[in-house]
Amino acid sequence: MLCLGIESTAHTLGLGVVTERRVLENIKVSYTTTQGGIIPSRASDYLVAELPKLLARLKTPLHKIELIAFSQGPGIGHSLRIGAFLARAFAVKLKKPIIGVNHCVAHLEIGKLVTKAKDPVLLYTSGANTQVIAFQGGRYRIFGETLDMGVGNFLDAFGRELGLGFPAGPQIEQLALKGKHYVKLPYVVKGMDVSFGGLLTNLKQKLSKGDYSKEDLAYSVQETVFAMLLEVAERAMAHCNKQELLLGGGVACNKRLQEMARIMCRERNAELFVPANEFLVDNGAMIAYLGLVEYKKGRRMKLEDTIIRPDWRTDED
Ligand code: ATP
Ligand code: FE2
Repeated sequence: MLCLGIESTAHTLGLGVVTERRVLENIKVSYTTTQGGIIPSRASDYLVAELPKLLARLKTPLHKIELIAFSQGPGIGHSLRIGAFLARAFAVKLKKPIIGVNHCVAHLEIGKLVTKAKDPVLLYTSGANTQVIAFQGGRYRIFGETLDMGVGNFLDAFGRELGLGFPAGPQIEQLALKGKHYVKLPYVVKGMDVSFGGLLTNLKQKLSKGDYSKEDLAYSVQETVFAMLLEVAERAMAHCNKQELLLGGGVACNKRLQEMARIMCRERNAELFVPANEFLVDNGAMIAYLGLVEYKKGRRMKLEDTIIRPDWRTDED
C-alpha cells in the first residue's frame, strides 16, 4: 500500500511516500534566516510559496497513492494548517482515506523502520520539542520532557545572542569544536524533566560581561545540555528496562550528542540507534509511515475530524 505523508508542523514542509517496508520518496523545503529567529507567519508564507515547486518534485504518480497522512499536531497553527489543507484537498480529489497523526510519535516509528530498533526509548530533541518517549503498557508515554523551551529553540536563542541566523544548532556545533575550556553553567534536571530558561539567562549575562569566548561557551553549552538530556534518557531506560536508545529530532544531527549517547549506551550494555539526518529532522516520510501503520491497525478518520491539534500531547489519543 502506498501512503503519501505531509509534514508541516513548523519551518519544514515535507512530502514522503512509503510502503509498509520502505521509504520511496522523502522531499522537503525548510525556511531559514541569515539573522534572527523564525516568525510563524513568515515561515508559513514561505512554505505556501514553495509548495508548487515541492509538488512538482514529487515523482510518484498521484493515482498510485492509496492513503493520505498528515501531521495533525503538535506544532505551530500557521504551519499545521497548510499540511492539513493540502491533505484534505488530496483526499477529496483522489477519493482516498485521510489520517492525521501525532508528529512526535512519527519520529519514533520512522526511527524503528530505518534503524531496525525494536523497542527503544526515544530521545526526541528538536526545536520545539524535547521529550523522552517509550511505548509502555500498551501506549506511548512521556517519561521526561522540557519544562520550558525545546533544546533546539534554546540553542537557536543562544545563537541569536551570538548574532547567528536560524537554525543556529549546526553553527554552534562548529563553534564548539574550537572551544578549549569548560565554563561552568547551570545544570537543570528536575526528576525526569529538564529546563533551559535559567541557563539562557545565565549565558546572556556571561556574554554581556564578555569574559568568555564564543567558542568556549558553545562547547560548554553542548557538554551541559547534552549531559542533562542523556541523564533523563538513561533513567528512562533503566525504569522501563529497555536496552535500546533511539535518537530523533533535528538536534540529534549533532555529532557530539551522538557520541555522548554512544558512550552512555556502551556503559550500560545497551544499543544506540541513530537514523540518517533526513529522518532525524522533520520529514514527510515519517508522517506517511505512521499513517500507514495506524491505518493497518484499523484507525479511520472522517474529513470533519481532520482539524489541526497544535497542543496534541504524545500520550493523548
Ligand atoms: P519540531 O516540530 O519537531 O519541534 P523542528 O521544527 O524544530 O521540529 P527539526 O528539523 O526537528 O525541526 O529541528 C530543528 C532544530 O534542530 C533547530 O533548533 C536546529 O537548530 C537544531 N539542529 C539542527 N542541526 C543541529 C546540530 N547539528 N546541532 C544542534 N542542533 C541542531
Ligand atoms: Fe519534529
